Amino acid sequence: MPDPTLHVHPDPEALGRAAAGQIVQWLHEAPADRPLSLVLAGGSTPAPCYRHLATTFRDAVPWHRLYLFWGDERVVPRDDPASNFRMALHTLIQHVPIPPEHVHRMPTDGAPPTVAARAYEATLRAFFDAQSDDRFDVTLLGMGADGHTASLFPNDPILQEREAWVCPVEAPSYMTPTRRLTLTVPRLNRSRHVLFLVAGEAKRAPLRRILTEPPTDALPASRIQATDTLAWFVDAAARP
Ligand code: 6PG
Repeated sequence: MPDPTLHVHPDPEALGRAAAGQIVQWLHEAPADRPLSLVLAGGSTPAPCYRHLATTFRDAVPWHRLYLFWGDERVVPRDDPASNFRMALHTLIQHVPIPPEHVHRMPTDGAPPTVAARAYEATLRAFFDAQSDDRFDVTLLGMGADGHTASLFPNDPILQEREAWVCPVEAPSYMTPTRRLTLTVPRLNRSRHVLFLVAGEAKRAPLRRILTEPPTDALPASRIQATDTLAWFVDAAARP
């Protein structure tokens, strides 16, 4: 497993641009004879990265080969302001020529979360059944001030899940909306490249612990690994 690398950028905009360039580089390094998979992160930090993918790097991305997935989603309608899909739609998807059938949104429009989780897992398994390898090419993740990532929250038993790829989650009350779907640790770790996007002074302390202490369920982001690259792109405010 690769050691984590830390890349500090002046501000969230520079962080986003650099992250977009890194994603493009990794996609170009992949073999040209297979589909490409990119897992999008939610929250607010990735927005500049998505905008740069849609503008600065628009012509560099092989959109016709790219498939989009999500690491987690709030269980809200797709047009809800809290929707991670909605943020990606407005900053990226509606601005680029990616085939609509390549955009695999987590189903949050009505089915019970347990049913939605099974449905999304089936979508993922169908995608990888057609591949020779079950790794995502690039997985983007954010991190909360409590060290959560995707919708994997501190000391949640789901962190011990080893079989399921997608699970429903009840987030802590301080993280509304609390009903969520999330990829599990083993599923997220089946990624060639993991890129954390972290900005803000509130993230500095958990990031310092994650980079210097042994992994712990108290800091779920510390449980994330990758097979080729584990990169932290942070702004100056979050610099440990
Ligand atoms: C979510 C995200 C979550 C996010 C962190 C950081 O659905 O909320 O997946 O894990 O990445 O909470 O969020 P910010 O980027 O907004 O700080």
